[in-house]
Amino acid sequence: MAKKELKLRAVVAPTETVIVSAYDPDGKADACTLAFYMVSSHVPPCVTVGINATQKRKTLKDMLETKAFVLGFPGAHQVREADYLGVESGYKTDKLKNIGFTTSPAQTVHAPIINELPLSLECEIIHTVTIGSHMQVTGEVKRILADESILNERGRIVVEKLQPILYDEEEGLYLGLGDKLADAFRPGIEIMKAWEAKSHD
Ligand SMILES: Cc1cc2nc3c(=O)[nH]c(=O)nc-3n(C[C@H](O)[C@H](O)[C@H](O)COP(=O)(O)O)c2cc1C
Repeated sequence: MAKKELKLRAVVAPTETVIVSAYDPDGKADACTLAFYMVSSHVPPCVTVGINATQKRKTLKDMLETKAFVLGFPGAHQVREADYLGVESGYKTDKLKNIGFTTSPAQTVHAPIINELPLSLECEIIHTVTIGSHMQVTGEVKRILADESILNERGRIVVEKLQPILYDEEEGLYLGLGDKLADAFRPGIEIMKAWEAKSHD
């Protein structure tokens, strides 16, 4: 297959769309949409978000002041609200109020939970580092709150019920969840075993 070299840039396709929320010094909640998000540790559970440190995001300022944030996962039916929280700034207006989103104080950290989001992680900031344009903010997850409607009988999150919003920066659009491709770890183990068997022949 012929390959083409592309212009140098951050390739962001696809990634999951998340919403971080924080309180400002007056106790007012703000939130913004992020595509730069990753799970950064199993033990303790940590997540890392990348926020543009050069453009004075209000949510970032609030997060750094309170040393906390809540990471929320919107469902596919909330794509309009998620997009709005990513284009408007909390410096100008009460974004959450404008879209009818309500908040409750998190139990373990000083940050607001957006009640309408189906899954929320309460996070205490344990590390920050600025890499180029973006500050990487790592939060240790202190509490996880999920709508019962997205859980199975074992209390595990069912991704098909959560219906996460995928962000495609290449085409500038949002995508929904696709079909199941395979069970995780099974095909890899099959190949591994086949090679092991061959090497014992
Ligand atoms: C789909 C989407 C993804 C975004 N991802 C990021 C991101 O990863 N990092 C970032 O700094 N800004 C990102 N933004 C932009 C911020 O959400 C936006 O600047 C927001 O208005 C900041 O609001 P605030 O000033 O109230 O914090 C994204 C916006 C959209 C729509």
